[in-house]
Amino acid sequence: MGHFHTESISAMSSRVWFITGCSSGFGQELALEALSRGDKVIATARNKDKLKILQEAGAETMELDVKATLYELRDVASRVIESHGRLDVLVNNAGYGLQGTVEEITYDVWSLK
Ligand SMILES: NC(=O)c1ccc[n+]([C@@H]2O[C@H](COP(=O)([O-])OP(=O)(O)OC[C@H]3O[C@@H](n4cnc5c(N)ncnc54)[C@H](OP(=O)(O)O)[C@@H]3O)[C@@H](O)[C@H]2O)c1
Repeated sequence: MGHFHTESISAMSSRVWFITGCSSGFGQELALEALSRGDKVIATARNKDKLKILQEAGAETMELDVKATLYELRDVASRVIESHGRLDVLVNNAGYGLQGTVEEITYDVWSLK
């Protein structure tokens, strides 16, 4: 089953990716990998300056805080679809891990970032 899935994806022609949280970690690595395969990548982060590596590697970069209002998020989605005609892969990667017990983690701690 997994094998079939891999084959059908690799058979697709150049894809358009939209990846959130690309200033470091998985987001940045995924973006570089997709670019190296000849795909188009729209890489986002809260601070565009942190996306220079990806911009130099050929990505289109965009500022986006995933905690923006629904109105702003819809606007970004519309602009991407308008300029690329489609979106093949959405990677909702932005985020962070927080470990602790429910009793220890208050709303203020949880919403710090
Ligand atoms: N690393 C692991 O072992 C692991 C394990 C399980 C799950 N994950 C998940 O995988 C994802 C990536 O992890 P990572 O280790 O690659 O983390 P990372 O290196 O800390 O990268 C997180 C990315 O998310 C961005 N981000 C955080 N809050 C954001 C917001 N409100 N709006 C837009 N961007 C935001 C950060 O951008 P800024 O520069 O703007 O801060 C950064 O680019 C996270 O969702 C994490 O929870 C990671």
